[in-house]
Amino acid sequence: MMKLPSGEMGLPWIGETVEFYKAQRSNQLFDSFFQPRIKKHGNIFKTKLMGSPTVVVNGAAANKFFMSNEFKLVVSSWPTSSVELMGKNSIMEKQGDSHRCLRGIITSTLNVSGLTAMVPRMCSSIHNHLQKNWQDKEEISLYRSTKMLTFTIVLECLFGIGIEPETLFGVFERVLEGVLSPPVNIPGTKFGRAKKARSEIEKKLVGEIRRKREAMEGGRDEEDGLLLSKLVAALIRGEITEDEVVDNVVLLVFAAHDTTSYAITMTFKMLANHPDSYSLLLKEHEDIAKNKRPGEALTFEDVKKMEYTWQVARETMRLNPPIFGSFRKATTDIEFEGFTIPRGWKVLWTTYGTHYDETYFPDPMSFNPSRFADPIQSYAFIPFGGGPRLCAGYQLAKLNILVLVHYVVTRYNWSLVYPDERILMDPLPFPSKGMPIKISPKSHHN
Ligand code: HEM
Repeated sequence: MMKLPSGEMGLPWIGETVEFYKAQRSNQLFDSFFQPRIKKHGNIFKTKLMGSPTVVVNGAAANKFFMSNEFKLVVSSWPTSSVELMGKNSIMEKQGDSHRCLRGIITSTLNVSGLTAMVPRMCSSIHNHLQKNWQDKEEISLYRSTKMLTFTIVLECLFGIGIEPETLFGVFERVLEGVLSPPVNIPGTKFGRAKKARSEIEKKLVGEIRRKREAMEGGRDEEDGLLLSKLVAALIRGEITEDEVVDNVVLLVFAAHDTTSYAITMTFKMLANHPDSYSLLLKEHEDIAKNKRPGEALTFEDVKKMEYTWQVARETMRLNPPIFGSFRKATTDIEFEGFTIPRGWKVLWTTYGTHYDETYFPDPMSFNPSRFADPIQSYAFIPFGGGPRLCAGYQLAKLNILVLVHYVVTRYNWSLVYPDERILMDPLPFPSKGMPIKISPKSHHN
């Protein structure tokens, strides 16, 4: 006998979608949507979202089961508008060998030698960004600044794309705005605008890809070890198509951009509100800076010393995960913990379900970075997901957060303008006022 998890399916067709969206917009998904249902029905409950019967799963065992059974019992499942805007050839839509092939190319730029080469490049992108956007300013929007910066870093340090970041930023933003809006392609809708922006990007990228291909085939372009060269090399070898290159560039910018900038913004917010943690963190960076000449770039070895900073960043992402969870689709009837999840139903894993559970994180709502000094149970801390779809850019995000924190705290005194600024979601979380901060340069850098 099939036993479905308990829970409510809400209204016909729309189910509990309205409650879900309402909670999401005000960044209350845990308090207003997940927690009351977990209390009533347990860690595994059913609901209906956006027309699909969905089982929400929480807890380390469930995370492990559903994440590691990707491709076997479930496959990731994105809304139509995301697929149309990212493209059908992006890694999110791939399975099996073609997934492995693309993932291999992406992660090969983020191995030890890739990261070692990336650190000085990232230092230079960050230095230039601060010179251009922070110099002589008394107040800046930390969120807007880090968005532009993470975008620049993806283009310059991950891909090695020679197009001026400023000329692409606005167009990419327009694509992202349509990613979770209804897929109605008529002028004037968010989705319509996003589609148009996507074709603009496509044109520019195709030009860049063909130039690179010609140069590489003519033996003129040195292998720079960056992702665009690696993708074009795979294109020349016939392993992937031009469409695949374009779709994955768009997807990676999307995956990297708002997530990392939100993590950075919230790291500063947590530091501002926890001065003891800030003192410890500052000491870590001053110790590293002491051994550097003025203006000398960091090395990968320096970044490895930023252990406490990484504890702060992880604790920040535990409390403020940039991605609240992700949908899967059951490709077969699934038995889990005595329940059946019928084939075709969606499964939603959530970060909150373990991040806010005292079983895994005692006193879960308090900010305590040093809890990460001890090993954490696997599949309990999941801001980057897990299993075959574990975030492919995890190392880049980590480097970006650590290196930027280093530059800001060693060069600037800073404080939040609004210590209690609200966080909203659309669909990713963001500070409602762009998190303005007051800044003044530290004297030894004048
Ligand atoms: C703090 C920053 C970031 C967070 C919190 C984050 C989070 C995540 C999560 C939760 C997933 C899994 C989604 C799922 O299971 O459905 C994921 C996948 C992915 N992320 Fe990230 N991400 C971050 C930064 C980045 C960056 C910088 C890149 C780009 C280089 C990136 C590229 C990817 C890719 C390509 C995937 C898909 C992997 C696959 O399907 O095999 N992410 N990320």
